[in-house]
Amino acid sequence: MDTATIATAAEAIDRLSAAEIRALDFSRVVGLTNEPNMPSGGGETVRRVLQLARPRPGRPVLEVGSNTGYTSIELASWLDAPVTGLDYNPVSNAFAADKAQRAGIDNVTFVLGDGQRMPFEDKTFDLVFCSNVTSFMTDHEKAIGEYYRVLSARGVLAAVPIYYRTAPPESLRSAVEEAIGVPLKVTDKDYWADMFSSEGVSLVADEPYEYIRQSSERINSYVETVTRQPHLESQPAEKVAALRERLAHFYELFDENLSYCGYSIMLFRVGHPNPEPVLHATRPARPTSL
Ligand SMILES: C[S@@+](CC[C@H](N)C(=O)[O-])C[C@H]1O[C@@H](n2cnc3c(N)ncnc32)[C@H](O)[C@@H]1O
Repeated sequence: MDTATIATAAEAIDRLSAAEIRALDFSRVVGLTNEPNMPSGGGETVRRVLQLARPRPGRPVLEVGSNTGYTSIELASWLDAPVTGLDYNPVSNAFAADKAQRAGIDNVTFVLGDGQRMPFEDKTFDLVFCSNVTSFMTDHEKAIGEYYRVLSARGVLAAVPIYYRTAPPESLRSAVEEAIGVPLKVTDKDYWADMFSSEGVSLVADEPYEYIRQSSERINSYVETVTRQPHLESQPAEKVAALRERLAHFYELFDENLSYCGYSIMLFRVGHPNPEPVLHATRPARPTSL
């Protein structure tokens, strides 16, 4: 980790008391701790999106909500194309850029900006990847309008939304809302399929998954690993303890919440030259014998 990145994160932590850290929302704590923050399904999801979308060599790719860089760096490592990660958190962007540099990945750039008003020209990208970010924005419709605005004429929007499969108790929903710091609607898969649908766009892939519950031991050991980092070594013990406490609280809460949830890898293709109204619908075959 370079000294400028350590200084950026350290300055952000210096400005906060331990009590203030205990009141931060999830994205801010991720930014301060440099938590890897992967999409649902981790690297497997990124690889699946690339298999399905098959972006053309050299054509620009965008990730919205790139956070500490995991997905954008992963995309750039597989592609011979320029990748841009956009996030509105400058501390996350500093960690992301530092991580890419240390990994020797030079075809990724991290840009500071709002996903609801992106600083890019129309039709710039062949692939726009948005994982668990749209639900963090106040105006879903406006954000998705922006994703399509910057997609090229034959572009693909890859969305990996988390949604509810069964309704959570209200107490859990409101605790998650407090944790993420934005209003949390109880949305199902159809909500996101409708939100991402647009004139002239076809849904070309939809792969649903569910989450497996994790033990408290696994969560605590993950928190320990994540918080053992150079930029936290010089911090007062009470602030590091507050960051650990907050992360453990989020992970326990999210683990319970995700037991009501699923996620899907959905690909929407703009300007499909052969729209596909299928009469005889199909599904994966179950075993049979004659
Ligand atoms: C929970 S993280 C998840 C992102 C992650 N890349 C993933 O794969 O799921 C949400 C990220 O979205 C960013 N974010 C939230 N609202 C945003 C907005 N309006 N514009 C840009 N980034 C935003 C936050 O700063 C945070 O880094």
